[in-house]
Amino acid sequence: MAVPEVSSRTPLRPVREARPWKAESWQSHPAAQMPHYEDAVELQSAMQRLGALPPLVTSWEVLALKSLLAEAQQGKRFLLQGGDCAETFADCNNEVIANRLKVLLQMSLVLVHGLRMPVLRVGRFAGQYAKPRSADTETVDGVTLPVYRGELVNGAEFTPEARRPDPQRMLEGHSRSAMTMNFVRALIDGGFADLHHPEYWNLAWVERSPLAADYRQMVEGISGAMHFMETLTGPIASFQRADFYTSHEALLLHYEQALTRQVPRQWGWFDLSTHFPWIGMRTAALDGAHVEFCRGIRNPIAIKIGPAMHAEPLQQLIEILNPDDDPGRLTLIHRMGAGGIGQHLPRLIEAVQATGRRVLWVCDPMHGNTEKLGTGIKTRRFANIRSELEQAFDIHAAAGTHLGGVHLELTGEDVTECMGGARDLSEADLARAYKSTVDPRLNYEQSLELAMLIVRKSTVRTR
Ligand code: PEP
Ligand code: CO
Repeated sequence: MAVPEVSSRTPLRPVREARPWKAESWQSHPAAQMPHYEDAVELQSAMQRLGALPPLVTSWEVLALKSLLAEAQQGKRFLLQGGDCAETFADCNNEVIANRLKVLLQMSLVLVHGLRMPVLRVGRFAGQYAKPRSADTETVDGVTLPVYRGELVNGAEFTPEARRPDPQRMLEGHSRSAMTMNFVRALIDGGFADLHHPEYWNLAWVERSPLAADYRQMVEGISGAMHFMETLTGPIASFQRADFYTSHEALLLHYEQALTRQVPRQWGWFDLSTHFPWIGMRTAALDGAHVEFCRGIRNPIAIKIGPAMHAEPLQQLIEILNPDDDPGRLTLIHRMGAGGIGQHLPRLIEAVQATGRRVLWVCDPMHGNTEKLGTGIKTRRFANIRSELEQAFDIHAAAGTHLGGVHLELTGEDVTECMGGARDLSEADLARAYKSTVDPRLNYEQSLELAMLIVRKSTVRTR
């Protein structure tokens, strides 16, 4: 998936020895959002089998990504991180995977062209199977069962069998992730991401999109420029492929632990379930299990930060997770909501600036803008997503920092889950194609519109 584009500068082993750490040391810390497995022997045996299987990514790729994130920290790259809120085992199929890739490729083309800088593509896929929830149980008609925590843990169906946390699911999650990555790698190696053929990324159902003309015009401009350059220089290899890295929330620590390995000729430990794990907003407690786990691995790490985050714990998180100020190591994904970002982001930027440490600032304009309609349906309004993103650019510019990326929930499927956007989806439209089992995602048009908006916003700012 990711042939290193830049040399993977391997930082020296830190001189200052940190507190001792082991892949299982998180187990003696308070662990929020974890399922209760009934059978410890069954859990142990699943973890052992998982631990004997090949990892999903390699340490070379992980370190290459870290270098690219370091470039994004310096403002030389823009991070596009996107995919499903929660992958499902059933969606591990040809069409869903290819369509998701098509949207991400089209968005990244818009961004490369408009921002005039390379885009770093990271999918929320090949492992985004575990979800934090607001309660441990769910009650329907007087029956109380464990809440659905994503397919890595249990099933969505409201039956005692489906809702029982089942450790075998970790093995199934690992194999579905491996199949997803295998297909993505094969598509890319086979030429799917070749810039000479942007028509490969067209989605049949959007031919009459209100945005199609703008997009086509841009693609024609790019093709002309590429043709011109290749006439001068001969074929340019970097036009023929676009690398993808993977990410997911490092939530189910039994799964992450089993895939955490030491590798030859590298010091330390790597979580080889994904290139880029993140700590969710609900699991960022300083003494909590998730922070303990993440501090010991050498992957780049992201932390989601919401309106309840305070300056001091944020500064301590930076200290715990990146004591050596390792470039590319730490990304902060803020998700405040359109109504909260103006109040909360400036104070947190200030807190980080006071540490003098480097971070990559990324905006997730999705999770602070989720709302429940009267009908009980969860949605997000495009206008709020847009507003949060626009404010993020302005707030960073005013603070002297820069917004280095976006984190989005999107799909290539023709869904109607978020309201507004180019086709101005209404509340009534949501009933037409609402498929998400968890959070509402942007569809193709809304995603592309957001990419165009990012370009407009940042070119207006730098003009
Ligand atoms: C998510 O990214 O799906 C998620 C649950 O985010 P957060 O931790 O920001 O709420
Ligand atoms: Co979500």
